[in-house]
Order: sequence, then structure tokens, then C-alpha cells
Amino acid sequence: MFVLRDLSPADAGWIFEACQDSEIQRWTLVPRPYTREHAEDFAAHGAGEKRVWVVERSADHRGVGVIGVHTVIDGVADIGYWIAPWGRRAGAGSTAVRLVTDELSAWDDVTSITARIAVTNIASQATVRRVGFVVDPDGPATTCPDGECQVDAVTFRYVVR
Ligand SMILES: CC(C)(COP(=O)(O)OP(=O)(O)OC[C@H]1O[C@@H](n2cnc3c(N)ncnc32)[C@H](O)[C@@H]1OP(=O)(O)O)[C@@H](O)C(=O)NCCC(=O)NCCS
Repeated sequence: MFVLRDLSPADAGWIFEACQDSEIQRWTLVPRPYTREHAEDFAAHGAGEKRVWVVERSADHRGVGVIGVHTVIDGVADIGYWIAPWGRRAGAGSTAVRLVTDELSAWDDVTSITARIAVTNIASQATVRRVGFVVDPDGPATTCPDGECQVDAVTFRYVVR
């Protein structure tokens, strides 16, 4: 079982360790190389997200990942997430997306939730599908349409209301 909780400065150590992982570096926008200072700054302040949570394993209270709401624009909440290698393939990612979807469904200003996922990121696509997200053929076709990294992507959407 997994729960969400707020970030804390004490999370810097395991976040540093997790973000050395090549999959997290490949599929997310974490800085490369990812230094201890990056982890300390993130654990203390986040990285400009509207909201960010730690994904924690209930059995041992170990941090296994991070999930956040990047923006809410015109009712659309855009989310991003990663799960550390030691937490994968046990339901953490899909549980975290489900919990954030439940939380965002209660926000008055949110009408839908999107996740922009690289076309080749099969694990992440399976994760949002499991929660009920579906492909939006009209969504942005890159993972960071306003940024420098233009990766072919699929927009998955969950309609709240
Ligand atoms: C994608 C990621 C979050 C999945 O987390 P997870 O905790 O392993 O996911 P879950 O255990 O909840 O599995 C959810 C679904 O994904 C599938 N899945 C997970 N890892 C997979 C893999 N490597 N290959 C194929 N399918 C995979 C599971 O089988 C499950 O599918 P099902 O519902 O059909 O059984 C994790 O692998 C990760 O952090 N990857 C690197 C960073 C990343 O890609 N972030 C997302 C950027 S858009």
C-alpha cells in the first residue's frame, strides 16, 4: 500500500539516490547530472510545481517516488511523476496517479487532468491507463511543448467534470 505526503528536507538523501536512475533521467525533466544540491533544493522547495507529494510505502514509510501537478491552465491540470527503482512494479505509480486524480477531482478549478508521455514510454502509459486516463488525440504532441526538449508524446487525459 502507498500513500501521499508532503515533501520534507529529510527526503533529500533518497531523492538524490533515486534520481541517479537512468530511467528517471531519460523520461523526466530532472537536471542531468543530478547532484546532491539538486536533491536538497527540491526537497526543501519543490521545483516550481503547483503541488508536489512524496509517494510513501506504508509498510516501512520509505519514500519510493514523487508526483506533482505542474500547472493548472484553463481547467487542465498537468501531472508528472517518477517511482524509484526500489519501488517499481508494485503498484506505486498507478496508486499515486489515482490518489492525485482523486485529490484534483475535488479542486473547483480542475475539469480534466493530463499526462504527456513519450510515445516510447510504455510503463508510464500503462500506469495512467490503469487509472482510467485515455488518449486525447488533440493533445500536445511533445512532452514539453514550450521547452527545448521536443520528444514525441501522447497526451493522456482524465475528464473530471
Ligand atoms: C512509469 C513508472 C512511474 C511506473 O511506476 P510503477 O510503480 O512501476 O507502476 P505500477 O506498478 O503502478 O504499474 C502500472 C502499470 O505499468 C506497467 N508497467 C510498469 N513498469 C513497466 C515496464 N517496465 N514495462 C511494461 N509495463 C510496465 C505495469 O505492469 C502496470 O500495468 P497493468 O495495469 O497493465 O498491470 C516508473 O517505471 C518510473 O518512474 N519510470 C521512470 C520515470 C518515468 O517514466 N516517469 C513518467 C514520465 S511521463
